[in-house]
Amino acid sequence: MTASPPSGPALRLGDTTARTLLAETTSAADANAVYERLRTRWGSIAPVDLEPGVPAWLVLGHSAAVGMLRDDRTFIKDPSIWNGHGAGLLGPTSTLHLVLAKTPKPTLADADGPKHARLRPPVDDALEQIDEARAGAISRRLCGMLIDRFEDRGRADLVAEYAAVVPFLVLSELDGLEPTQAQRLQEITRAIFEAGADARALTDELREIVTGHIAYSRERGTRDIAGVLSVHDNFEHDLERAQTLTAITAAATEALMAWIAQTLVLVLSDPRFSHRISGGRLHIDDALDEVLWRSTTNPNLMPRFAVRDTVIDGKLIQRGDPVVVAVHAANHDPLVQSDDPWDTVGNRAYLSFGAGAHRCPAPRLGRVVSRIAVAELLQRLQVTLDGDPDKVEWATSPWMRFPARLPVTFPSPREQAPPRPLFPTTAPPAY
Ligand code: HEM
Repeated sequence: MTASPPSGPALRLGDTTARTLLAETTSAADANAVYERLRTRWGSIAPVDLEPGVPAWLVLGHSAAVGMLRDDRTFIKDPSIWNGHGAGLLGPTSTLHLVLAKTPKPTLADADGPKHARLRPPVDDALEQIDEARAGAISRRLCGMLIDRFEDRGRADLVAEYAAVVPFLVLSELDGLEPTQAQRLQEITRAIFEAGADARALTDELREIVTGHIAYSRERGTRDIAGVLSVHDNFEHDLERAQTLTAITAAATEALMAWIAQTLVLVLSDPRFSHRISGGRLHIDDALDEVLWRSTTNPNLMPRFAVRDTVIDGKLIQRGDPVVVAVHAANHDPLVQSDDPWDTVGNRAYLSFGAGAHRCPAPRLGRVVSRIAVAELLQRLQVTLDGDPDKVEWATSPWMRFPARLPVTFPSPREQAPPRPLFPTTAPPAY
């Protein structure tokens, strides 16, 4: 990244007008066309509005994005330094109250510097001790159980009944939580995000469930995620342990849901894609990678904030300016992409797992769960999208991309023709 201290006139966020709305980049039928327009006009970093009248910088270039994410001394996650506080930019219905909060958030994903360096090792330790074969077996069992519930019906919504359920069931077992507790946690986390500033009762309930579970896991000496966190010395108190367990669970369930659902959309709606898998030339892993390259699950990362004035690509990023990494745009940067889809096979240079201090600690575990969820479904049922593939309804979040619904039909097991292999079984992956 070409970041340098300001030395001459450079464009400031406040100088820009008629900024593109961030949601336009994620809801556009052809997001790449929008990014291309921004790239042509602005280069590797463009001014956008997070919501109307709430300006931010959007990083479009792959190398600029990596440089920014790695430079966590200049770009931090603490939104209390946002220079828009007090300007009355957020209306009562804004969804940005939490993203641009005035008080620093206490969790791992929002911590910076020494605090993040203290909170991150317990997460790595807790995730490292997970046996991938066991995680695979748990995933397979739970996926099978969910498919059992709808296979006789001949139709299902693969988001509500599968992709959104598998992750929290798997995580609940890996966390040592009861499924009902895990489900409640997921509901609360989502509601807190949507409720913005007015979420005190929900936050209290969340804290109570998770701190209780941490104490329970310590008492029992469990070796699951909560058990490892419950005795880790890096924490100052149990509230930090509880917040970290919540952060892991929330990060995993949302991201896995989107990855599983997106892969199913591609397989079911793009004949080129499904034929390549059924023809045996691509493995499910290649399909998962292609999803992240083509239509990543997290098109934009939560904003960072500049701690000092810095010039990037002729733009003056002022102290407190929000800076958002557009993962989708960075993955489609012409400098790292070609027109040949085979170039993406085996290539994992995408930014879908982030970079720098906050990079995802669980790309392997995430892949195990997603791979099994997609494979089990395709192996068990011959599903067809119920409706026009071009009319799949997408959720409206600028941060996550996933279908709101995925209605499918399939012959019930007795009617099914002898199964045609949907992907190669000759060399099973090492789970
Ligand atoms: C078992 C599954 C997963 C777990 C337990 C998990 C956990 C986490 C945690 C705890 C963080 C915060 C790290 C920190 O701030 O230091 C994180 C970050 C991240 N995760 Fe994951 N994750 C999972 C799956 C995924 C998947 C499937 C994706 C996308 C395909 C993903 C993408 C990301 C990204 C992009 C970040 C960085 C966010 C940022 O820098 O703003 N994760 N993950």
